Amino acid sequence: DKAEDLKPRPPVVTIMGHVDHGKTSLLDAIRSTSVASGEAGGITQHIGAYHVATSRGEIVFLDTPGHEAFTTMRARGAKVTDIVVLVVAADDGVMEQTKEAVSHSKAAGVPIVVAVNKMDKEGADPDRVKRELSDLGLMPEDWGGDTIFAHVSAKKREGLDELLELILLQAEVLDLKANPDKPGRGHIVEAKLDKGRGPVGTVLIQEGQITQGDAFVCGMISGKVRAMFDDQGRQIKTAGPAIPTEIQGFEGIPEAGDEFVIVKDEKVARKIAEDRRVKHRDKELAKESK
Ligand code: GTP
Ligand code: NA
Ligand code: MG
Repeated sequence: DKAEDLKPRPPVVTIMGHVDHGKTSLLDAIRSTSVASGEAGGITQHIGAYHVATSRGEIVFLDTPGHEAFTTMRARGAKVTDIVVLVVAADDGVMEQTKEAVSHSKAAGVPIVVAVNKMDKEGADPDRVKRELSDLGLMPEDWGGDTIFAHVSAKKREGLDELLELILLQAEVLDLKANPDKPGRGHIVEAKLDKGRGPVGTVLIQEGQITQGDAFVCGMISGKVRAMFDDQGRQIKTAGPAIPTEIQGFEGIPEAGDEFVIVKDEKVARKIAEDRRVKHRDKELAKESK
């Protein structure tokens, strides 16, 4: 891509942290506070990724990957996350899965923004969290390091705007860009077999454009985009970089981490997918005969 073809794109964020430290609560709180006040009952979530619009820019949250999905996807070569938000309960501090999340993020080279959650609780001790994370190499900015910390309460919905600001600040440093004017390419973040609609997959588009009618290859599966939907379940005709999009038209069920690539036409798509299946089968057979 030429420099002038690259346009700014929103950051893609994965939330990680120890069990019960408030990952789901935090996502829910962010989602519901960023819903336009006219939308009674809030947004019904349709897919495992959604974007939030703030006055300073958009952020895409991946809802599916806990650190397991994160590492599975990374093992398959899919780097979809730009920033990890590490949730640590202020009354509990750094625990086993906090440490795992830190090491996975570091291995992936993904910067961490720390959300010290449950600040409303009696035993909240954010300085302890800072000390414990400093021991893992995450030194807070106000202690001379370069890790950003936010104090939040998912329950009381406090500190959320600041957290979103800090995520956008971190994103600015990363200077995230993509070329929106070419055939789309991205990765599956989740997929399922829907009773009425057949195989559906959520694609996080990383560059280019996906448009209804496009032919594609996804791992060992081919297909044609028959219908596409945004994170609120609204049908759309086209989508660009960093937009999570639910797609119908797969000729099988893809897997999280599969690369999704738009190709010239359905014939080409079928040929590539078939070649990949043959290669895969040969590999499996070779393994068996060893
Ligand atoms: P797993 O998905 O099971 O790993 O848990 P999680 O990290 O998603 O935590 P979850 O959001 O389910 O919250 C765990 C518990 O902590 C729930 O009972 C929440 O109500 C509570 N909780 C979450 N955030 C806060 C908070 O800010 N303050 C208080 N007081 N409780 C909270
Ligand atoms: Na929980
Ligand atoms: Mg949860």
